[in-house]
Amino acid sequence: MKNINPTKTKFWNKLQKHYLKMKNVHLKNLFKNDLNRFKKFSLNYKNLILFDYSKNIINEKTIYYLINLAKECFLKESIKSMFNGDFINVTENQPVLHTLLRNFTKKKFFINGENISSDISKVFKKMKKFSNSIINKKWKGYTGKFITDVVNVGIGGSDLGPLMVTESLKPYKNHLKIHFISNIDGTQVSEVLKRINFETTIFLISSKTFTTQETMTNARTIRNYFLNEKNILKSDMSKHFFALSTNKNEAMKFGISKENFFPLWNWVGGRYSLWSAIGLSIMLSIGYKNFFLLLKGANSMDQHFLNTPFEKNIPVLMGLISIWYNNFFCSETEAILVYDQYMHKFATYQQQANMESNGKNIDRNKKMVSWQTGPIIWGESGTNGQHSFYQLIHQGTKFIPSDFIIPLKTHNNINDHHIKLLSHFFAQTRSLAFGKSLNELKNDYYESNNEKISCQKNNSLFYQVCLGNKPTNSFLIHKITPYTLGLLISLYEHKIFTQGVIFNIFSFDQWGVELGKNAAKKILSTIKKNSTCTVYDSSTNGLINFFKKIK
Ligand code: F6P
Repeated sequence: MKNINPTKTKFWNKLQKHYLKMKNVHLKNLFKNDLNRFKKFSLNYKNLILFDYSKNIINEKTIYYLINLAKECFLKESIKSMFNGDFINVTENQPVLHTLLRNFTKKKFFINGENISSDISKVFKKMKKFSNSIINKKWKGYTGKFITDVVNVGIGGSDLGPLMVTESLKPYKNHLKIHFISNIDGTQVSEVLKRINFETTIFLISSKTFTTQETMTNARTIRNYFLNEKNILKSDMSKHFFALSTNKNEAMKFGISKENFFPLWNWVGGRYSLWSAIGLSIMLSIGYKNFFLLLKGANSMDQHFLNTPFEKNIPVLMGLISIWYNNFFCSETEAILVYDQYMHKFATYQQQANMESNGKNIDRNKKMVSWQTGPIIWGESGTNGQHSFYQLIHQGTKFIPSDFIIPLKTHNNINDHHIKLLSHFFAQTRSLAFGKSLNELKNDYYESNNEKISCQKNNSLFYQVCLGNKPTNSFLIHKITPYTLGLLISLYEHKIFTQGVIFNIFSFDQWGVELGKNAAKKILSTIKKNSTCTVYDSSTNGLINFFKKIK
């Protein structure tokens, strides 16, 4: 990938000047002056996703400048580089090829002379056979009973992807109960162990590295409970324990049998791994066919990202509009607001995908960046958020661009619930954009009361003024299915990629997380000692010693 300081490009400079004009423009006027605005700034993806970006503080010039910024930063070439398997994860010296996991063309793909396409299809075949045997009740536990519960033990990408997808696709679920253990806090493992029966449960130890402290601690606790508390034979472990990992050696040492090992590869990033063997809990939950449709949906968006001109390229436009706010309007955060209860984990999933990827301050030239990189991502499902933090978005002093996502068809068509949900969705994006002026409030009052406004009422109306001009993207999804969910996840992955390229950072490592991991290991060894801790700063020493005293 090229190494370009974005702030030194011609179009960054143009955007800075353009911002000075646009910062005082109101969405009200943009819509008033252009009746074709929705048509101009919306894209229909195969009737499955309608992306409306017209409620952004942009005009044609903004988009023209942003697209040219992307061109100056060699976005097209970078996209090709990723799909070609170039070693774009430079700091870990590997390619970034999660897109290959959902590419079903017959073309063979090689890395360092190795045919990885055949490795991928072998793993999918194995996953298919195994998940079918569990779902069809052929696989038996140590007492001969069929499996009813699946526990995924993993953290970060080895947890959030499978958790978000299994929750989002609950309507496609079979009889298996799926549980997730991620936190090292003993509470989570204890609570799950209370709910399951070892005779009918399988455990998926899901860890790319098979060394992550949280996952390995939870996995050992479960294994020891299985062997020591339940007195089950070690030889019966093969009926209940499985590893999804790159690290066969460590998995064997843990006691996983060879046949129970489902490999993935270093070129699959942790936060992009739900498409790999890490997605086994998804396949178990919704079956191979639906898992395949999820991959197909993601692949369809991959092709769109790879082949569509930037003017009509949804993930590219999403990434660019976000840069417009992040780097020119100086917005700090972005909200992802999904109006679908099943998708309640989507924003949490996007937090890792986006913030672990683009939360970086060193550029591709080893220099500290002088521009903002990844935004803070947060969100909640609609309409619950409306009754808590939306107040701040409407009337607070913070500027928060938001994505609104809703399916047009629901899986639970009860009475008029869905049409009400939709009306909230449309009302929010409209109110955020256009607000309510004092005059409009007064007119509304006359219309409904037909009387003069009292002094007290007038004062109260003053506080009801909403300035509007809060930008939103709307995504109308035909229905949440495995295929459209695949589209949506891939859409956001490529938005993040687009931004990483322009920020001139490496989006596929996470050294900050590693710092915390290593620090915790060191501190653990000092906590275990009986002596007073003096090796750290006075605050850390003080906290550790207070704990030792109370203990
Ligand atoms: O949180 C940091 C991280 O490295 C993530 O990228 C990854 O998804 C997670 O830890 C878990 O790692 P592993 O799958 O190796 O246990």
